[in-house]
Amino acid sequence: MKILITGATGLVGKELVKLLLAQNHTVNYLTTSLSKIESKSNYKGFYWNPELGKIDENCLYEVDVIVHLAGASISKRWTNAYKQEIIESRILSAELLYNLVRKTPNQVKQFVSASGIAIYPDSYTKVYDENTTETEDSFLSHVVKKWEESANRFQVLGLKVCKIRTGVVVSKDGGAIPEMAKPIKMGFGAAFGNGKQMQSWIHLKDLVALYDFAIENQLEGVYNAVAPNPVSNKELTKVIAQALKKPLWLPNIPEFVMKLILGEMSYLLFSSKNLSSEKIRSLGFQFRFSQIEDAINDLYN
Ligand SMILES: NC(=O)c1ccc[n+]([C@@H]2O[C@H](COP(=O)([O-])OP(=O)(O)OC[C@H]3O[C@@H](n4cnc5c(N)ncnc54)[C@H](OP(=O)(O)O)[C@@H]3O)[C@@H](O)[C@H]2O)c1
Repeated sequence: MKILITGATGLVGKELVKLLLAQNHTVNYLTTSLSKIESKSNYKGFYWNPELGKIDENCLYEVDVIVHLAGASISKRWTNAYKQEIIESRILSAELLYNLVRKTPNQVKQFVSASGIAIYPDSYTKVYDENTTETEDSFLSHVVKKWEESANRFQVLGLKVCKIRTGVVVSKDGGAIPEMAKPIKMGFGAAFGNGKQMQSWIHLKDLVALYDFAIENQLEGVYNAVAPNPVSNKELTKVIAQALKKPLWLPNIPEFVMKLILGEMSYLLFSSKNLSSEKIRSLGFQFRFSQIEDAINDLYN
C-alpha cells in the first residue's frame, strides 16, 4: 500500500514510518519544513504550509490511505495565540487535505486521524469507552471535537474515517515521560496534587502497531489507543523512580503551584482520564505492553 502521512517527522510519525517501511509499504509524507524533505523510492517528502493553504499536489499520487498526525505540540505555554495555533494546525491542515482529495482524481480509501482523550470526562474510578456521549468542557476537549469533525468530513468523499484517541505516549524520545523523569533523575521527583488522577497511557510501539492494525483492517470509527491498565499519577511517578533507581522523598506538589508555573496548561498534569481499550482488543489487537512497569522498564532498563 502507499500511505501519505502528515506529521511523519514527529515522535509518533517517525516510529510509524519505520514500521510501515519494514512491512514493504511505500510512504509519502507532508512536511512544513523544506529541510526535512527526503526523496527515496519508498519514502518521499512533499512540502505543505496549511496556514498559507499551500500543498504539493503530487503527494497524493497512487496513495491508498492518509494518516493525519500533524499538529502543533500541546506542551508549550497556552497563550491565546498559541491555543489558536494548536487548533488551526490540526483543522486547516485537514481542510487542505480534504480539498485536495475532493478535487484530484485519486484512489484514497481511508483517512486515519490522530485524536485525543481529553474529550472524555474526568474520572478516578468510572471507566469510559468510545460509546461515551458525555464530554468534558475544557480547551483540549474543544480541540478534540473540532479535530474529529474535520476528519469526519472525509466520509462525504466516500472514505472510511478512523480516529485514534491517543493516551499519554510512553517513549524515551518525547512526550510526557522524559519530562516526568527529569526531576526524578535530579532527586526532586514527586506526584502532583493528590496523585489519584488516572493516566491512560500507551507504549509508542503499541501505538504504531495500532495505527498499522487500523490500516490493515480498514477500520472506521473511534478507537481508544490506551493500554489495558491505566494507572494513577502516583503509581506512574513511583514506577519511573524505581526504573531510574531514584528515591521519592518529597511531598506531592500542590495543584495551585503548578497552575502558577504552567497556567492553564497545568490541566495536563491534573486531569484524570480512566479509559478502556476493550473495543480495539475485541477486534484482535494485542498490546505488547499492558503493565506500566514493563513499558517503563523497556525505556530505562
Ligand atoms: N505524543 C503524545 O503523547 C500524544 C498523545 C495524544 C495525541 N497525540 C497526537 O498525535 C499526533 C502526533 O503526535 P507526536 O507526539 O508525534 O507529535 P510531534 O512529535 O509534536 O510531531 C507533530 C508533527 O506535526 C507537524 N507540525 C507541528 N506544528 C505544525 C503546524 N503548526 N502545522 C502543521 N504541522 C505541524 C510537525 O511536522 P513537520 O515539521 O514535518 O511539518 C511535527 O513533526 C499529534 O497530533 C498529537 O497531538 C500525541
